[in-house]
Amino acid sequence: MDKEQRLKLAVQKSGRLTDPSLDLLQRCGLKLSRGKDQLMGFGENMPLDILFVRDDDIPDLVQEDVCDLGLVGLNVLEERRLELAARGAQARFEVLRKLDFGRCRLSLAVPEGMSFEGVGSLRGKRIATTYPFMLERFLREADIKAEIVTLSGAVEIAPRLGRADLVCDLVSTGSTLQANHLREALTILESHAVLIRTPVALAPVKSEWVERLLMRIDGVEQVKESKYIMLHAPRAALPQIRKLLPGSESPTIIPLEGSPERVVIHAVCRENVFWETLESLKKAGATAILVLPVEKMLA
Ligand code: PRP
Ligand code: ZN
Repeated sequence: MDKEQRLKLAVQKSGRLTDPSLDLLQRCGLKLSRGKDQLMGFGENMPLDILFVRDDDIPDLVQEDVCDLGLVGLNVLEERRLELAARGAQARFEVLRKLDFGRCRLSLAVPEGMSFEGVGSLRGKRIATTYPFMLERFLREADIKAEIVTLSGAVEIAPRLGRADLVCDLVSTGSTLQANHLREALTILESHAVLIRTPVALAPVKSEWVERLLMRIDGVEQVKESKYIMLHAPRAALPQIRKLLPGSESPTIIPLEGSPERVVIHAVCRENVFWETLESLKKAGATAILVLPVEKMLA
């Protein structure tokens, strides 16, 4: 197929988003053959290729139309948006979907010995960060004067080196902070992965594949927690049982051959079904309870 007809999607090369991004694409049906240099992956069954890059480069690759799509953290995206705004420019990437992975937060963290009694404690302090624009906005909105020490990495050791009093950094598990004797004090942004697209209009074939991909992503996100549940129950217990089924809309009710007072219930539950629910169902008279994972869903 013509190169112009293939979508190019930027994904983080190595980091928090890499595995969950590839996992999402795989659930969307993409089979990838990684190139020899590992910088690109070719879609074998979809006109979609992956470019493995530094996450910080993704917003620009997409807004400059080098890539059609990108999977990136809101943290990186927002920082870039503010940086452009500070230069009087406007971000041109378009956010298509908020995704349910890559959760982390941009937080202020103080050395274990330092007291922190709210934003006022930041006044006059030196704060090390790789997110100067988001930190600047936060301080400005809180009306706090403090010094921003912009670093390109290893922010967490800045207080020990005497370069800053505290840090403003990404936290996900918290282990980096802990290893560096820092305590999370205040969150300034809750982040997650997002799918972005180029501002440039796409060729019809590409555009159609973006739509298909979005539909599949929605389906994948929907089934994550969903379960298919089947059970037998006394007809009289139906109202009670329907209340017990978590997040199910309208269950299918089928008569049970030979026993007019019992029915078969099939339902899709959009939340996880816990043992406690099964125990309550059993108490309500349900038998032959079966819970199955849902693999795909298309509304
Ligand atoms: C962030 C941050 C910490 C680490 C925190 O870096 O700078 O080093 O993650 O994670 P933890 O709470 O699970 O220990 P990131 O992986 O975003 O690296 P990058 O800035 O080079 O992309
Ligand atoms: Zn990065």
